Amino acid sequence: MHKDLPTTALEPTILVIFGITGDLAERKVLPALYHLFANDLVHPQTYLVGTSRRDISVADILKRIEHAVTAHTDGFDPAVLQKMATHFSMLKVDPTVDADYAQLRDRLQQIEDKAGVCLHRLFYLSIPPQVYGGIVQRLGQNGLNTGCSHGVTASRLLVEKPFGYDLHSAQELISKTSEHFSEEQIFRIDHYLAKETAQNILTFRQHNPLFNQIWNHRHITGVSITAIESIGIEGRGNFYEHVGALRDLVQSHLMQLLSPTLLDIPSDMTADAIHKAKQSVLDSITPVPADQVANRSVRGQYQTYREEVHNPDSTTETYASLVLYSQDPRWEGVPLKLTTGKALKIKRTSITVDFGDQPHSNRLQFRLQPNEGITLALRVKKPGLTSAMEETTMDFAYHTAFQAHSPRDAYERVLIEAIRGDHLLFATDEEVLASWRILQPLLDEWAKSSADLVIYPSGSDGPDTSKLIP
Ligand SMILES: NC(=O)c1ccc[n+]([C@@H]2O[C@H](COP(=O)([O-])OP(=O)(O)OC[C@H]3O[C@@H](n4cnc5c(N)ncnc54)[C@H](OP(=O)(O)O)[C@@H]3O)[C@@H](O)[C@H]2O)c1
Repeated sequence: MHKDLPTTALEPTILVIFGITGDLAERKVLPALYHLFANDLVHPQTYLVGTSRRDISVADILKRIEHAVTAHTDGFDPAVLQKMATHFSMLKVDPTVDADYAQLRDRLQQIEDKAGVCLHRLFYLSIPPQVYGGIVQRLGQNGLNTGCSHGVTASRLLVEKPFGYDLHSAQELISKTSEHFSEEQIFRIDHYLAKETAQNILTFRQHNPLFNQIWNHRHITGVSITAIESIGIEGRGNFYEHVGALRDLVQSHLMQLLSPTLLDIPSDMTADAIHKAKQSVLDSITPVPADQVANRSVRGQYQTYREEVHNPDSTTETYASLVLYSQDPRWEGVPLKLTTGKALKIKRTSITVDFGDQPHSNRLQFRLQPNEGITLALRVKKPGLTSAMEETTMDFAYHTAFQAHSPRDAYERVLIEAIRGDHLLFATDEEVLASWRILQPLLDEWAKSSADLVIYPSGSDGPDTSKLIP
């Protein structure tokens, strides 16, 4: 399905990072870049340009990288940072000021003049969503939506979720972006897709005939996709209060994981064919009908949330669980349960596929985090003078099976694929719209009344969802 990861340097590129001083850049993007440099994956003609509205120096950014890398990994190497320093520059840009884009254009031109070649340009928009539209427009108006003057190289946008706030705003955002950038130039990040286990779903399904042949409603009785965490909103109240669990996680990550789980594996495993198959999965899913919201969805809010956001009347959900169905005959009648929540007892992201009726089911679980791997629950006879059965598991964990190759962080893969211009691990405009189409009726119903919002204690299992599965 995938091209092998490069073991040699990626293509020469200028990576412009809007929002380099932000939370995401510090926790994910910059450490991922550090690891690409550490593994010699970066072409010698790679140039990193960080932008900020403030006077931030390259030394400041390098300190942040050191701090982030040492906090999460052993073996920080100062030589890698020194190497990064030679590729880095900063530019003061206010993304809302037109004149600053002329400066950015000049900086890119200078870099290319000095390099003596045209380079790919990759604009990473790691900035709050409300700034996104203006940046795209100004990049376009300043001719930064094409490669350098020879026209040989690409100009690409690497964008963070959320892609819109609802169906209407997503349509608008996609339409405005398309005035300046073609779909081919846009890479919409869903970093869950870049996790090792997520990439393994298709490989596993395709190359294990035992499962491939029974991957349908005759054998599978339920699919559950879960992304729960023990932390709360961690000071991101301003952002979260206007978003909530359904928009934040279900519309993007959980829908994107549902598609490879259900899709008809194409004979031709190209990015295009896989995107078509994913699209067909999303198009076949019906929204929760208004009269079934009560028994097909549960929403909750953790107890201390309102204090954290200083809004005693907040109805924003920090927990959402819902059951969808597909009209594809292959998945007829199979409940597709999507669950996400914050401030819960455990952290887990998984895809669970149940074979057979409870309590005699076999359960296959893809674990995306923690401890990436796959578990198959089986029933065996208990040892000794008994014929009693017990559930046991066959367990595959990446860290024990492939000790020398611990999974790369998803953001390394995101950067690699965007620099290579491979769309497979990114969401298309149609996929984004299809996900919103599925969820919009539920969002509309939830907006009418919050009577069903369950307040749950932090550190608990969250609201009871037993009513959801028939
Ligand atoms: N943080 C996460 O865990 C996470 C997870 C998934 C997706 N995302 C997405 O990733 C993007 C970045 O998230 P983030 O949490 O890193 O954002 P952030 O920290 O709130 O902002 C990033 C940077 O953008 C600049 N900025 C902030 N407000 C601005 C404004 N009104 N006008 C112009 N520039 C502004 C600031 O840089 P200067 O002050 O230096 O100019 C800031 O450091 C967002 O689209 C977010 O939805 C974030």
